[in-house]
Amino acid sequence: MHTMTATNLRSAYGGESMAHMRYLRWSDKAVEDGFANVARLFRAVSWAEQVHATNHFNEMRNEGGDFVVTSMAGFGVGTTSENLEGAINGELFEINEMYPAYRAVAELQGEKGAIRSIHYAISAEKIHAAMYQEAKQAVDGGKDLELGPVQVCGVCGYTAEGEAPEKCPVCGAPRSRFRVFA
Ligand code: FE2
Ligand code: FE2
Ligand code: FE2
Repeated sequence: MHTMTATNLRSAYGGESMAHMRYLRWSDKAVEDGFANVARLFRAVSWAEQVHATNHFNEMRNEGGDFVVTSMAGFGVGTTSENLEGAINGELFEINEMYPAYRAVAELQGEKGAIRSIHYAISAEKIHAAMYQEAKQAVDGGKDLELGPVQVCGVCGYTAEGEAPEKCPVCGAPRSRFRVFA
């Protein structure tokens, strides 16, 4: 793998790993604040970020070694509304800056595996940003989010409310690969 693509994937792996943990912490805070569905949304999206981190990690299976990894990551435990704001900003950074820049380098370098893993992530992050925006509106109105079962694809992290699709619209994985957060 080319050096710049590997550097970018390591950074994305770090960012996804920290998002995974951050969302679990913010899920616990949402439980404390009385927003059970927002808490469940955080848990579902946390698992989608784990899928993204795992995909990046697997793409670098032949790039072993120890590295200092620099990643953008939000810190702090605020109110659930503030945590949702942090989550939205993190997702938007990935959608608008981080992944498009990393994808451009991967395309320049012909790194097909990295392009796929980045495509899977950015497709899910767009959904995450929208779901978090909806959650923030509910919380800012003093209510929990209305939320049915949340389905997450274990191959690409695609996230959807309701029934799992027959086939994942992003990666084509069958329904059996989805995990439900109900
Ligand atoms: Fe992600
Ligand atoms: Fe995300
Ligand atoms: Fe998928």
